[in-house]
Amino acid sequence: MLKYFFIVYAFVALAILGIFGIPGSKFERPPFRLFPDMDEQDKVKGQQPSDFFADGKGSRLPAPGTVPNSGDNGEFSVDFGAGRTGYFYTGITEGYYGTGMPTELELTPEAAEAFLARGEDRYGIFCAICHGASGDGQGTVSKLGLAGVRNLHETGEAGFDPANYPDGKMFEVITHGKGQMGAYGMNIPVEDRWAIIAYVRAMQEAREVSKEDLAQKGEGQ
Ligand code: HEC
Repeated sequence: MLKYFFIVYAFVALAILGIFGIPGSKFERPPFRLFPDMDEQDKVKGQQPSDFFADGKGSRLPAPGTVPNSGDNGEFSVDFGAGRTGYFYTGITEGYYGTGMPTELELTPEAAEAFLARGEDRYGIFCAICHGASGDGQGTVSKLGLAGVRNLHETGEAGFDPANYPDGKMFEVITHGKGQMGAYGMNIPVEDRWAIIAYVRAMQEAREVSKEDLAQKGEGQ
């Protein structure tokens, strides 16, 4: 019995020595890491040089033409409505969603056609991919499987009622997104959002919105 104890004892002692080494001795080779835990990474740390870039700097400046997407610093962010209030910038007037084109757009019968064309163009770029070219909710992304994309013509889906849907609410949905729909406030300038809304309305009315009609909406905010 004692014999086995000594054999096991010797093995354990050898194993401990094997794992921890002889006390006081120093390792020459780097330790073997079974779980590296991302200690070493192919990344540049702040303010460190890097020979990856021609100028040798690890920290990069923003690419030329970068647009600040927050704050009220400069003309660009005003176009996007950052930090602004009022119907034109928020779709909200006196605490409620408003309806009608804001007077700031200065829509005249002459300008209306170009405005709608702009809306059609922007709708085609930003919205049709999901909502479909005709607004029926059957865009490419819906066909690929995104469920719940709103048919902009139909009442009923999740309480959506195009006939009782303030323009200001659509403005807010474009700006901040809703559910699976992302926010476009950083990508679409305020004026273009209104142009898109005007175009969606034109589609919804399923008729050519006459120039006079659109101008009237402009006044009747
Ligand atoms: C990535 C796909 C996608 C894109 C792009 C997109 N939408 Fe949507 N949209 C959705 C989905 C999904 C919903 C349903 C949101 C919900 O209620 O969950 C929706 C809902 C809406 C609604 C109804 C919101 C409500 O209150 O029920 C409107 C209006 C709308 N979108 C307009 C637009 C306009 C205008 C654009 C272009 C600027 C646009 N959408 C771009 C996916 C998209």
